[in-house]
Amino acid sequence: MIDSTFYRNNIFSIMPPHIAVNHNYQASTINVTSSSNEYRIRSMVRTDISTVYEIDQATWRNEAWPLENFFNSLDDPLWNCWILESTTTDNSILGYGFQYFSNGISHIANLCIHPHQRGHGLGGILLRHMINYGYNLGFSIVELEVKTSNINAYRLYAKHGFRIIQLLERYYSNTADAYRMRLIVNRID
Ligand SMILES: CC(C)(COP(=O)(O)OP(=O)(O)OC[C@H]1O[C@@H](n2cnc3c(N)ncnc32)[C@H](O)[C@@H]1OP(=O)(O)O)[C@@H](O)C(=O)NCCC(=O)NCCS
Repeated sequence: MIDSTFYRNNIFSIMPPHIAVNHNYQASTINVTSSSNEYRIRSMVRTDISTVYEIDQATWRNEAWPLENFFNSLDDPLWNCWILESTTTDNSILGYGFQYFSNGISHIANLCIHPHQRGHGLGGILLRHMINYGYNLGFSIVELEVKTSNINAYRLYAKHGFRIIQLLERYYSNTADAYRMRLIVNRID
């Protein structure tokens, strides 16, 4: 078991990519096709927030998180905030993820890839990292909410073994419906 201090203090390359889930959630194995030298995932720091906020605004517009949400999440010990960055160019931020632990469940609260970098598997890299990180701390249940209309995100989660456990009507801004999805991780190879 690797404790959270290790993760908080170390910049490291991509975590082992193979994830097996239990039968109820349909077993799946995921392979990272990208070279582990091209990207790294590290803990977010305050100076990242302006870029993260820009990407979030460009993505979600009037539904984006207010700026203080990013700072509050970063300051909250139950939250883990991640940056995926390129190591081959100028360390530019390619994406970010927010995860928190509550009631024995690892929650993915936000996952976003830079608009110019989508569709290349990076979302999967960050998602697997958060699954893996929680699992190594003892959290084998992972949950998230996704808009029913967000097909790309839904496909990403379904491919990783997440299954719908609840339809949340008018969940976003009291208008858009969401699915609550859950993954139960049995083993990470
Ligand atoms: C959802 C998101 C994180 C996925 O990350 P990504 O790096 O683009 O996704 P991947 O390349 O790993 O692909 C995941 C799936 O989405 C689909 N997809 C992703 N981007 C796509 C695009 N631009 N066009 C078509 N399909 C796309 C792919 O078909 C893929 O499924 P497949 O492998 O079965 O073909 C990213 O698209 C994003 O940041 N979207 C905006 C924010 C968001 O919706 N976050 C999730 C909130 S719940």
